Amino acid sequence: MNKNIVILGTQWGDEGKGKIVDCLTSNSAYVVRYQGGHNAGHTLVINGKKIILHLIPSGLLHDNVIGIIANGVVVSPLELIKEIKMLETNNVFIDKRLFISSASPLILQYHIEMDIAREKKLGISALGTTGRGIGPAYEDKIARRALRIGDLKNEKTLSTRLEKIVSYYNHQLVSFYKHKPVDYKIILRDLLPTIDLIYDMIQDTTSILHNAIQDRKKIVFEGAQGSFLDIDHGTYPYVTSSNSTIGGVITGTGVGPKHLHYILGVTKAYSTRVGHGPFPTELFDDVDKHFSQKGCEFGSTTGRKRRTGWLDAVSLCRSVHINSLSGLCITKLDVLDGLNEIKICTAYKNINTSEIVSFPNIDEWENIIPVYETYSGWTKKTLGIRKLKDLPYEARNYINRIEEITQTPVDVISTGPDRSDIILIRDVFFC
Ligand code: GDP
Ligand code: IMO
Ligand code: MG
Repeated sequence: MNKNIVILGTQWGDEGKGKIVDCLTSNSAYVVRYQGGHNAGHTLVINGKKIILHLIPSGLLHDNVIGIIANGVVVSPLELIKEIKMLETNNVFIDKRLFISSASPLILQYHIEMDIAREKKLGISALGTTGRGIGPAYEDKIARRALRIGDLKNEKTLSTRLEKIVSYYNHQLVSFYKHKPVDYKIILRDLLPTIDLIYDMIQDTTSILHNAIQDRKKIVFEGAQGSFLDIDHGTYPYVTSSNSTIGGVITGTGVGPKHLHYILGVTKAYSTRVGHGPFPTELFDDVDKHFSQKGCEFGSTTGRKRRTGWLDAVSLCRSVHINSLSGLCITKLDVLDGLNEIKICTAYKNINTSEIVSFPNIDEWENIIPVYETYSGWTKKTLGIRKLKDLPYEARNYINRIEEITQTPVDVISTGPDRSDIILIRDVFFC
């Protein structure tokens, strides 16, 4: 039986989802983005050439694959066009291979200005957003005032509704945030030329996916962000504004759970986080330098330095539960090469009482410290290894321990940024 698979991040984003989606879609018919927007930065490296995608599904570099930007994604038409053009300059043509849901909410200039104005006003309490207007765009959706992709098809109502929304935003931007206003005529002027370019892509993507399921086509669902950036299950309020956990696939596409056959949790072999918020295993020492430099831990979207730390198996176990993971993909194993010792956080301890505590509430994070298990590192290079048996004994031991702690099989291991740097232990489409 052909299976549909979901590939999502189990940590705070940037786990290497883009690379894994690219690797696993070569024999698929469809690849689907279901939440988030251009806050995502998914890096693909193919024969040494790097491409970073923000909105366009990562599997589209295979020219047999059809891409869907489903209803759960917030879409900036200007960014979308920019990305299509960037791909064209790289000889990737997605003409007639990309469909966008008419129900996807739009991201327009006022969302971006509002995101920036709010962060500025929050000062040291800022969330550290990507400044892409994601929060305000999802707020408009929930408040039932969003302009959506389908609205681009009717220029007259688009213009009337845009004028109203802009006056609503300008009132807040100027009066409350003391920020510059936006001009609806300029927004409309910039938006109109994009409509012709994407008009034919605007579709009922739920129907496309249902037909694909009936035709028994393989579908890969590509998550953005990570489970602890999820609006409900993440380290609120230091989260994004969508459901990056498994539920986001269902509401964000209109495909029901019985059609999701395998859920792969992409997990970096250590931890990173960009932006503010709890991070129990965060390091500030030479190991942080090692992860930063060897792992090139700088944001794919904003270029910010990512915070780094040891693997946090407490939160990973929670990710396994909240996403019903079928298996794990451990990425960036090669970044651990050369470390004398490697640690895994296996419990959280109350800093005052030394008692082991369960998963903290938002006001409890600062009272916990990690409890570690320590393992020997390895000196041999794992970069580019493609067979499990070729990994050093200590690296296999590390993988085995992750399986034991999480009670979840590691089915894929990534050993470098390139598409070909991968160990496929089980075929996730057929296991
Ligand atoms: P995503 O947002 O989850 O798709 O991840 P990003 O693309 O933002 O960040 C992952 C970074 O790690 C990118 O620079 C990738 O090229 C790189 N990467 C992915 N897998 C591996 C790996 O196994 N080893 C190394 N060294 N780099 C990797
Ligand atoms: P990918 O898909 C890492 C973080 C931001 C900030 C918080 C809220 O590449 O893994 P937002 O702009 O979404 O309102 O910011 O979420 N964030 C990410 N961190 N990877 C991402 O995406 C992220 N998308 C958002 O840094 O802390
Ligand atoms: Mg990223």
